Amino acid sequence: MAKLIFFLGVQILLLAAVSSAEDDGENFTGTIDRKLLGLHKKEKLTHFKVYWHDILSGPKPSSIRIKPPVKTSTSYFGGVTMFDNALTEKVEINSTLLGQAQGFYAGAAQKEFSFLVGMNFSFKTGKYNGSTITILGRNPVLSEVREMPIVGGTGLFRFARGYVEARTKLLNLKNGDAIVEYSCYVLHY
Ligand SMILES: *[C@@H]1O[C@H](CO)[C@@H](O)[C@H](O)[C@H]1NC(C)=O
Ligand SMILES: *[C@@H]1O[C@H](CO)[C@@H](O)[C@H](O)[C@H]1NC(C)=O
Ligand SMILES: *[C@@H]1O[C@H](CO)[C@@H](O)[C@H](O)[C@H]1NC(C)=O
Ligand SMILES: *[C@@H]1O[C@H](CO)[C@@H](O)[C@H](O)[C@H]1NC(C)=O
Repeated sequence: MAKLIFFLGVQILLLAAVSSAEDDGENFTGTIDRKLLGLHKKEKLTHFKVYWHDILSGPKPSSIRIKPPVKTSTSYFGGVTMFDNALTEKVEINSTLLGQAQGFYAGAAQKEFSFLVGMNFSFKTGKYNGSTITILGRNPVLSEVREMPIVGGTGLFRFARGYVEARTKLLNLKNGDAIVEYSCYVLHY
């Protein structure tokens, strides 16, 4: 008897597997209630400023060139730098550490200094500890204000969208170290 039940059970499982294989993947998505993710609440606009420390010099650089620019370029075209830069509350590097900016910038323009930037701000303090926002955009570094889109987020920043304004606060022409203010406008729930 137990054997028969087992046999029937296996048949049912097989049938279920076969019929789900037969739906051609047509029905693998479904809608769910927004409330399950807290999306019935009003979206809020959060603003903050963080300071991004691009340290190329010294024994512990946080920003490292992993590919040199093409030989003939005078604008860093083709160069790629990966960074894991500190994000602080004030412009001083010894002010409160809020998180890390992790990503890359790559020389993407042949006639000017302009980068493609892809990075995550990974927050490490307060209620945003563990949450991230992702920034992906064009950064013509010599302009006074560079605007880049916030394309998403995780944790408290799920479903984020918005933009940042980047302003260089300090640039060491000798070693390339820079401090950039990021003023961030984030819509999220
Ligand atoms: C997919 O779901 C729809 C709606 O429930 C149904 O009408 C349709 O027959 C399903 N398609 C398959 C291939 O199972
Ligand atoms: C940060 O460093 C500066 C200069 O080295 C110093 O004057 C200041 O007191 C430091 N601030 C903190 C919060 O440690
Ligand atoms: C940012 O984080 C997302 C999700 O963790 C990841 O897929 C993406 O590659 C990261 N982007 C960068 C530039 O590190
Ligand atoms: C942030 O979260 C991590 C992992 O949950 C935890 O280890 C760390 O202590 C937290 N930091 C702060 C400042 O709350």
